[in-house]
Amino acid sequence: MQETTQQAAPNSLVPTASSRFVRACLRQPVDRTPVWFLRQAGRYMPEYMAVRKHHSLLDICRTPEIAAEVTITAAERLGVDAAIIFADLLLPFTPMGLDFEFVNGEGPVVHQPIRTLEQIQALRTDRADELSYVARAIEKVVAHFKAPRSPEGPNSDPAGDQLGIIGFIGAPFTLASYMIEGSGSRNYIEAKKLMYSQDGSWPLLMEKLITVLVAYAAQQVEAGADVIQIFDSWAGALSVSDYRQYCLAPTTELVQRVQALGVPVIYFGVDTASLLPTMKETGADVLGLDWRVPLDVGWQSIGHTRAVQGNLDPITLFAPQDVLKARVLEVLKAADKRTGHIFNLGHGIVPGTPVDNVIQVVKWIKEYGNL
Ligand code: CP3
Repeated sequence: MQETTQQAAPNSLVPTASSRFVRACLRQPVDRTPVWFLRQAGRYMPEYMAVRKHHSLLDICRTPEIAAEVTITAAERLGVDAAIIFADLLLPFTPMGLDFEFVNGEGPVVHQPIRTLEQIQALRTDRADELSYVARAIEKVVAHFKAPRSPEGPNSDPAGDQLGIIGFIGAPFTLASYMIEGSGSRNYIEAKKLMYSQDGSWPLLMEKLITVLVAYAAQQVEAGADVIQIFDSWAGALSVSDYRQYCLAPTTELVQRVQALGVPVIYFGVDTASLLPTMKETGADVLGLDWRVPLDVGWQSIGHTRAVQGNLDPITLFAPQDVLKARVLEVLKAADKRTGHIFNLGHGIVPGTPVDNVIQVVKWIKEYGNL
């Protein structure tokens, strides 16, 4: 009897939907379109660069106080409706036994890329707890943002709405392609060679990644993440047939196991216009759209039973204000006041983006995003 009362209720992790961001993910009514930005904490922001002067990217990720500070500063500076935890997609490689580093100007580099079944067999899946620094950072962000926002102040909200806290993980294909290629890639030759191999390598790699990613997502949800975003940044390199044959089942398993933790899942990829109807089959609550597909066309191809996130071209943020405003309004118009639209970019903010333009977009969404 006592045992049962001490157990967490099965629905204790279900978000209270106290933020318009989470409500939009669930396609519940909101007072206005919520807004946040992919890569909202990053090198375009002077506050981030000031921290980066003294700490490497990995130091920031692995120090909960600093990761939380960077996350909070970006969300408050911009006045957005959600904060994505500052971390990196590749962090799970370390406890899996795969060393990597960020080489300045080149992005991530894996020194001994995965190319054989033996290497995959050697990957560890039992050390996800070593990633708990991300959960500690989320706890700090939650503690900061859990109170409703006051009507005044740096991150004010007239409705007293709470900020949504987003945790994230990589999708199996995107993480596998980094492990195999060893860096970003143009043609994904090595990744696809391993994917097409018939020796059991690919299913084993998918299975190991899922094991680690589910444990890592569970830590983030337990720490207070309201939503988990799954980044499949390189899925657009796949044909629909290859996506369906090699990636749909593992990604579906991942999405469904993360949803079983009690949170909505946003599934995002780039260059995915032709993949969207298949990506929908994963069961994700929200699909992220890149800017190459008009939002209404992308949403139509998924069906309006799912929420969508997107999809301003991030480079529009370099345009004169009238051009930028027209494009922002175009995205809102394409969403047609339907419930379940989260305004975002079609991919991350790039270095050099004028911060004031990003802030201005938030102001326009607050002004014109009324539903
Ligand atoms: O504000 C946020 O969005 C949270 C922070 C965040 C980072 N990485 C920090 C980071 C997020 C969400 C990521 C995810 C990530 N990491 C992705 C998926 C997102 C996407 O763009 O599709 C990918 C592919 C990675 C792997 C990765 N990390 C790459 C390819 C690079 C180099 C890219 C570049 O712009 O040079 C990184 C480095 C990285 N991760 C930076 C940041 C802020 C920039 C480098 C730095 O600060 O030194």
